[in-house]
Amino acid sequence: MDKEVFKDLTYGMFVVSTNYNGKNVGCFVNTVVQITSSSMLFAVSVNKDNYTNKAIRSSKKFAISVLSEKSNPEVIGKFGFLCSKDVDKFADFEVLNVQNLPVVSENICGYLICELVNIVDADSHDVFIAKAVDAKKVNNFSPMTYAYYHKVIKGKAPKTAPTFVEENLSNKQANKKEDSTKKPKGKPKKNDSAKQSQLQNKAIKTKVIAQNQDYKKYRCTICGHIYDEEKEGVRFADLPKNWTCPICCVGKELFEEIK
Ligand SMILES: Cc1cc2nc3c(=O)[nH]c(=O)nc-3n(C[C@H](O)[C@H](O)[C@H](O)COP(=O)(O)O)c2cc1C
Repeated sequence: MDKEVFKDLTYGMFVVSTNYNGKNVGCFVNTVVQITSSSMLFAVSVNKDNYTNKAIRSSKKFAISVLSEKSNPEVIGKFGFLCSKDVDKFADFEVLNVQNLPVVSENICGYLICELVNIVDADSHDVFIAKAVDAKKVNNFSPMTYAYYHKVIKGKAPKTAPTFVEENLSNKQANKKEDSTKKPKGKPKKNDSAKQSQLQNKAIKTKVIAQNQDYKKYRCTICGHIYDEEKEGVRFADLPKNWTCPICCVGKELFEEIK
């Protein structure tokens, strides 16, 4: 089977959100699709391990915020990589309350308010089928597509996303995986590349620790992860070119210095 063709399917980019035990809960999805016209039914695939799944099962209603190309990528990082159980994902964003549901409203194309009518078990995911009871177009912006997210924002999807593919692992993780499957030929030599890179890392660490001043912090603009030079012991600039965010796997170029 040529799974490459899976990547030619097109999707939009959405936040699915609800209210659970008095708390706003939500996650990022690319799997909202309209399935009927006159009865206005929509489907969304939500991983069974996502906290939002539990929340929607309980509240039986949810909002869909339709992201645009002008949407803040941090929305994707927060809603797509963190868990609502641990953090208030809505705290840093503009939120519109519609029928007691939180809509992540900044620069969105619009939103839908849906009532759950059915749940279809789909292996790792549940497909929630819901009826739109309200909807509003807010801005005349271009909707963000999954392709735009990959090609322009250079973002990735985590394992919980239905469209996750193994290559979304960071280069580092992927290399490690590849290495672990290779059998070493003969005795490892003293100056083999692993040893060399270990020594290199040690040298970089020593350099940074010796300087011991002016440590900087960098924030991943996709998932919000903070790279703290002091904690890590390595200057951000000295990290290898193929280093990627340990949370959402994007490259160094999507980190910004925290002033
Ligand atoms: C681009 C992208 C697309 C995603 N699509 C889906 C999806 O369609 N369904 C899903 O269950 N999770 C999807 N995810 C993963 C969830 O957003 C992620 O697991 C989230 O942290 C769950 O949050 P929660 O535990 O608060 O519900 C996607 C993530 C990203 C970054």
